[in-house]
Formats: sequence, C-alpha cells, structure tokens
Amino acid sequence: MESLRNKPIGVFDSGVGGLTVVRAMMEILPSESFVYLGDTANLPYGEKSAEMVRQYAFHNARFLQEFDIKVMVVACNTASSVALSDLQQAFDFPVIGVIEPAAKEAVKVSPNHRIGVIGTKRTIRTQMYTHKIHEIEPTATVIGKACPLFVPLIEEGFLHHEATTLIAQEYLSPLRGKIDSLILGCTHYPLIRDTIQSVLPEVVLVDSAYSTARELRQLLLEKGWLSDALVPSRLFYATDITEHLNSLARMILPEVPSLVFEEVRLASTPVV
Ligand code: DGL
Repeated sequence: MESLRNKPIGVFDSGVGGLTVVRAMMEILPSESFVYLGDTANLPYGEKSAEMVRQYAFHNARFLQEFDIKVMVVACNTASSVALSDLQQAFDFPVIGVIEPAAKEAVKVSPNHRIGVIGTKRTIRTQMYTHKIHEIEPTATVIGKACPLFVPLIEEGFLHHEATTLIAQEYLSPLRGKIDSLILGCTHYPLIRDTIQSVLPEVVLVDSAYSTARELRQLLLEKGWLSDALVPSRLFYATDITEHLNSLARMILPEVPSLVFEEVRLASTPVV
C-alpha cells in the first residue's frame, strides 16, 4: 500500500490537551504527518451528555476525513469512551481510541491487577475502561474516580500550584493501598503527572497518550503504512482560537515553536 503510507494521520480532541497524544506520536512516530483538530468551541466534553459528545465526535471526524487520512486517532478519552465503536463503523479508515491501549498496558504493568482509572465525569460514568480491562483480565479490580477539577486547573496553567496538589490529595488519597497502577485517563493529566505521583508514590502511572502512540505504531507496521517522509507535515486546527490556546499548546509541545492553529467552523449537520 505504497500510496497510503505518506498520507496523514487525523487526530482530534475536545481541545488542546490532545497535544499530549501528538507529543507521544512525534516521539514514537517522528516521520508521520498529521492533521490535528481541537474542538475548543465545545470544550469540556467531560461535562456533556453522551449524545452531545457523540455528535461532536462525528463533526470532528468528518472534518478530518477531508484530508484523506490513513488512520484516525481519537485522542480524547471522553470521546473514545462514548463514540469509538460508532466511529469505527461509520468510516472506512481505521479509527483508534485511547482506552484500549491504556487498558492493555495497565493489565501488563499491574502485578496484582488492582487498577485505578481517573478521568472526566463522562469517561468514568461510561465505565469503558472497566469494560476493556475486564475483557483482557476478568479478575482485575478496577476503581474509577472522576477528577473534574483537574482539567480547569491545568487549562489555567496551574501545573505546579499548591491548589492542584491539594485537589490531587483530595481525589487520590482514598486510592492509597488499594491500587498498584493508575491510568491517566484524560488528555490533560500527563501534565500533572509529578503531582499525581507524589500523592501515590507506590503506584505505576499509565499514560494513555504513550500507550496509544505505541498501539498506533503497531497498527501502521502491520499494515505496511509507516511513513518514510523526510519532512512530515503537521497541521493544527481549532474550532475557537481562545486567548490561552497558543500558550497551552506551547506548554505541551515546546519543541514545535512554530505551532500555529488555524480556526475552522464545523458544519453542525445532525448526526444520525
Ligand atoms: N479531552 C478530554 C478527555 O481526555 C478532557 C477535556 C474535556 O473534558 O473535554 O477526556
């Protein structure tokens, strides 16, 4: 499939947080071209109904489809929890989400199969991580915990702030002694990884962004679709260019100083 290998990978998220997945992809798959879409106009997905998130996911996917992508990555944990199988059925390119790769890795690194999952309210409510972990290891104990204040704190740039440490203690201390690994089931959480680890020092943290990038590499290898482009192209779109979008983006991807988002308005055709 020579013609496919240098086509871009489409990546979408509810906002800029999904750049943590792009960061992992750039490290693990440096020759790949991609088109990134952050649906900043509709952030946060984690507080929305499942149906609304599904609609947004389809609008994002249709936008990315226009770029003749070879694969689509749903970088958003919330959208992956709610809409992945519908997207996989609706499009003829492979669609991968962040849930299954992280679930697999958590089972692998968790000696006693006592796994914690943190994410948005919607992600935890769907129990998709729990289902995926149980498909792989039915005896695993899974404890889900919604951490809704993390996203606004991180969006505010409070990465090393005592408020974030306090909130992390409030959310995570009850998990002490109960889990041996913890899935960072939200695009934003890798940015406060150190704070999370300081509250749960004995626990192995699983970064869904890196698990997904490795799974994507495996898929591209199997299909013979690994890019050999010397200068891969990277395009960044957002549905609303807000004041702090560029600064948050630079915080996540400081190695791409030229990173500029272009604004795009998505058609709001109803999804059937
Ligand atoms: N991208 C979302 C996720 O990974 C977090 C932000 C939001 O709620 O939209 O679940």
